[in-house]
Amino acid sequence: MNEKTWSAVDDYIVDNLLPADTVLEAALRSNRSGGLPAIDVSPAQGKLLYLLARMNRAKRILEIGTLGGYSTIWLARALPKDGSLVTLELDPHHADVARVNFKVAGFADLIDLRVGPALQSLEALGAEKSAPFDLVFIDADKPNNPNYLAWAMRLSRPGTVIVCDNVIRDGAVLDESGRDPNVEGARAAFSFLAKEAGLEGTAIQTVGAKGYDGFAIAIVGQ
Ligand code: SAH
Ligand code: DHB
Ligand code: MG
Repeated sequence: MNEKTWSAVDDYIVDNLLPADTVLEAALRSNRSGGLPAIDVSPAQGKLLYLLARMNRAKRILEIGTLGGYSTIWLARALPKDGSLVTLELDPHHADVARVNFKVAGFADLIDLRVGPALQSLEALGAEKSAPFDLVFIDADKPNNPNYLAWAMRLSRPGTVIVCDNVIRDGAVLDESGRDPNVEGARAAFSFLAKEAGLEGTAIQTVGAKGYDGFAIAIVGQ
């Protein structure tokens, strides 16, 4: 079994279960032509995010790490007409590409894209005392995973679903002594979930067109 098989099976999944999607395909094309790194979630993962939001009947979604908004569009599609989605992005160029993609996808009004370091945007969100989020997707700078998880909890209610991407990193998550900050961030997410009594979580390893990685998923308890 190798990456070629994983990728071919991902194609099989897409061919069978994900109808051709001109809007999402256009977003990916505009991300690549804008020079953004190809680290968007895969189509099958994007649909999983959409399904999780549907399953939790999410009306308010928070995303940390927009890139060109591929995952954002999947999540926005799960929302009812009066739903809302806040997505946080550091890089102004990524945000510019995402803004165009949101417009093309018809979500310019529903998505609130905030540019700047996510920790600052989260402080501001906290101060706004808005209604809690029903789903939080964490997919930004990995060393801040524990900070983002803590913020996700503060902005949540019992039953909020929290998903944290890229916590397996080719299995490098096992490397206790490694100095790769992304791997340390993955391990920090596990430590946070392990010690936080208010969260019940697990992690799932994934293979596919984007290689070998995985995500953590948790629910906020009472
Ligand atoms: N969720 C996207 C991929 C996000 S890639 C998708 O699946 O389509 C990670 C993004 O996090 C990048 O665009 C990067 O610029 C952004 N990022 C990195 N550090 C950040 C920070 N401190 N605050 C907000 N965003 C950050
Ligand atoms: C990286 C970041 C991601 O969010 C991802 O899905 C894959 C890779 C990275 O920074 O390497
Ligand atoms: Mg990711």
